[in-house]
Amino acid sequence: MTNYKKLFLLSFTIICSVQMIQSDYIAAVVEYEPINATFPNETVEANLAQYVYFIEHAQLSSVQIIVFPEYGLTGLADNASEYAIEIPNPTDNSIHFEHFWLEKLSNAAVAHSMYVVVNLLEKEKAEKNILYYNTDVVFDTKGRIVAKHRKVNLFQEPLLTPGNSEQNKNIFTTDFGVTFGVFTCADISFYNPAKTILSNPAVTDIIFPTAWGSFLPFFHSLSIQNAYTLASKVNLLAANLNSVENGMSGSGIYAADGTIISYYLSGKPGSKMQIATVKTTPTSETTVFDTYGYEPLNNTISTLDNLNTNRYFDSEKYVFKRLNISQLNIKEEVCHRSFCCAFSINVSSTALNASEIYQIMAYRGPARIGELRNLKFCSLVACKSSDLNTCGDRNIKLTSKLESVLVETNVLDEREGFYLPISLTGDLVPVFNTSYNSTAYKGARIYKYLASNIKQENILAFGIVANDGITLSFNSMLIVGILVLKHLLR
Ligand SMILES: *[C@@H]1O[C@H](CO)[C@@H](O)[C@H](O)[C@H]1NC(C)=O
Ligand SMILES: *[C@@H]1O[C@H](CO)[C@@H](O)[C@H](O)[C@H]1NC(C)=O
Ligand SMILES: *[C@@H]1O[C@H](CO)[C@@H](O)[C@H](O)[C@H]1NC(C)=O
Ligand SMILES: *[C@@H]1O[C@H](CO)[C@@H](O)[C@H](O)[C@H]1NC(C)=O
Ligand SMILES: *[C@@H]1O[C@H](CO)[C@@H](O)[C@H](O)[C@H]1NC(C)=O
Ligand SMILES: *[C@@H]1O[C@H](CO)[C@@H](O)[C@H](O)[C@H]1NC(C)=O
Ligand SMILES: *[C@@H]1O[C@H](CO)[C@@H](O)[C@H](O)[C@H]1NC(C)=O
Ligand SMILES: *[C@@H]1O[C@H](CO)[C@@H](O)[C@H](O)[C@H]1NC(C)=O
Ligand SMILES: *[C@@H]1O[C@H](CO)[C@@H](O)[C@H](O)[C@H]1NC(C)=O
Repeated sequence: MTNYKKLFLLSFTIICSVQMIQSDYIAAVVEYEPINATFPNETVEANLAQYVYFIEHAQLSSVQIIVFPEYGLTGLADNASEYAIEIPNPTDNSIHFEHFWLEKLSNAAVAHSMYVVVNLLEKEKAEKNILYYNTDVVFDTKGRIVAKHRKVNLFQEPLLTPGNSEQNKNIFTTDFGVTFGVFTCADISFYNPAKTILSNPAVTDIIFPTAWGSFLPFFHSLSIQNAYTLASKVNLLAANLNSVENGMSGSGIYAADGTIISYYLSGKPGSKMQIATVKTTPTSETTVFDTYGYEPLNNTISTLDNLNTNRYFDSEKYVFKRLNISQLNIKEEVCHRSFCCAFSINVSSTALNASEIYQIMAYRGPARIGELRNLKFCSLVACKSSDLNTCGDRNIKLTSKLESVLVETNVLDEREGFYLPISLTGDLVPVFNTSYNSTAYKGARIYKYLASNIKQENILAFGIVANDGITLSFNSMLIVGILVLKHLLR
C-alpha cells in the first residue's frame, strides 16, 4: 500500500470514529390512524399535514428521530398504482425532490432538525412494466434520504414486488452517533432481514414501521416486538398503524436489555405519540417523559374490547399436555415431530384452583398464515375449558397464580434458525421482566426463556416461536434431494 493510500485510510478512520461517539437520544414513535379522503392524492396530503403536526410537537420535546407506521400516509391502500411515487436512492445526496410529498417531508426534517421515518408505496419503471414496492424512507436532519427499505417479506400484498435484501440500503448512522437498521412488518419474523441485518455489528437500534394485525395467541403486536428485542438485544422503535377493526394497535419503545421503556395498545381508534429517551448503553433506568396524542401516556391499555383480534390456533394439529397444577413444582416436556420443549413451572400454593386448565403444546409444520412457510412453536397456554380450541383465547382469567415459568428447547444449530420468545397476558401485553438466552453446544443450540418472580400478570401464553421462512433455491433443493437419497440408500 502506498503512503498516500495509508494516509487516506487513516483520515477516513478518524472521521468514522468521530462519528461513532454514541449518545443517548430522544425518540418518538407514532401510532397513527390514517385519514381517508375521497381521492388518493388528497388522502396522502391530509396525512402529510398530520405528520407535520406530530413532528412540530415532537420538536417541543427535543425529539431527534420520529417513526411513523407502515401504510400511515396512504391508509391500507390495496391498489398501489393509485398512490405510488418514485423515490430516489439514498446515494443521491440531493434535497430537491421531484415529488412534492418527499419535498414536504424533507423540509419538515430540516425545519425541525429531526430524522423522519415514513413508509410509502414506491414505483419503479422496469423494462416492460412498472414495479411497486412497500418502502420505508428515512430523511436526515439535512433533508436527504439516507436510507430506504423495500419490504422483503410481503404479507397479502399481491400487487407488490418484494424488496431484495442485498439492494436495500436500510442501515444508516445518525449525527448523534447511533447506527440504525430499518425493516417493516412481517420482516420481523423472518431470518432475512430481521437477523441478517444484525450481521453488521454497528447496528444497535432497529426502526420498525408496521401495520400489524395481531393474531392470538402467538403473533400479538407488543408480544412480537418485545420478543425481537429479547432475541436480538438491540433497541427497537416500533410504530404501528392504528386500525382497531383490523386488529392493528400496539406500538412501543424497547431497550436492548429487554426493558419495555414505553408501550401503547388501545381498542379506541386514534393516534398516539410516545416519546422516550433511549440509552445507547442500556440500563433499566430509562425515562419516559412526554407524550402527545389523544390520551395521556399511561403505559396502558384502554377499551381493549373494541380491538379486533384475529386468531391463528389450529388446536387439532398440535400436541398438548395438560398440567397438573396442584403439583406446584411442575416439570414436563412436550414434543411434535422431534421438536421438543421442556417446561419448569412453579405455581403459588396460596392461589390455586386445581380445576383450572393450563396446557403445554408443541407444533412443527407448515404454516397457513400470510406468506409464512414453516413454523415451530411450543408454549404454555391458559384454557377456558377442556376444549383445546379455547386455549390462548381472549377473556381468559385464571385465578391460579404462576410464580415462574421456564421454557427450554434444544435444536439443531441451523444457520438460518430464528427463534423468538413470546409471551402474552390477558391484557394482551407481554410478561414483563423476562430473560432469554441462547447457547451453542456441540452443534446444537439451547434456547431458554424465563419469567421468574411473576407479578400479577395472568398468563395467556408463554413460549418460543420459530419461522423457518427459508425459500429453498434450486441448488439447496438439489442438496436436500441428495441428502434424502443418501439417507434412503443407507
Ligand atoms: C386529486 O386528484 C383528483 C382526481 O385525479 C383531482 O381532481 C384533484 O384536483 C386532485 N387534488 C389535488 C389537491 O391535487
Ligand atoms: C377510502 O375511501 C374510499 C372512497 O370513499 C374508499 O373507496 C376506500 O375503500 C377507502 N379506503 C380505506 C382504506 O378505507
Ligand atoms: C388500480 O388503479 C388503476 C388506476 O386507477 C386502475 O387502472 C387499475 O385497474 C386498478 N387495479 C386494480 C387491481 O384495481
Ligand atoms: C391511566 O389510564 C387510566 C384509564 O384510562 C386512568 O384511570 C388513569 O388515571 C391513567 N393514569 C395516568 C397516570 O395517567
Ligand atoms: C395431581 O397432583 C397431585 C399432587 O401431586 C396428585 O395428588 C394428583 O393425583 C394428581 N392428579 C392427577 C390427575 O394426576
Ligand atoms: C421453582 O421452585 C423450585 C423449588 O422451590 C426452585 O428450585 C426453582 O428454581 C423454581 N423455578 C423457577 C423457574 O424459578
Ligand atoms: C375453579 O375453577 C373452575 C374452572 O374454571 C371454576 O368453575 C370454579 O368456579 C373455580 N373455583 C373457585 C373457588 O374459584
Ligand atoms: C421489572 O424489574 C425492574 C427492576 O428489577 C423493576 O423496577 C420493575 O418494577 C419491574 N417491572 C415489572 C412490570 O415487574
Ligand atoms: C441468561 O443469562 C443471564 C446472565 O448470565 C442470567 O442472569 C439469566 O438468568 C439467563 N436467563 C435464562 C433464561 O437462562
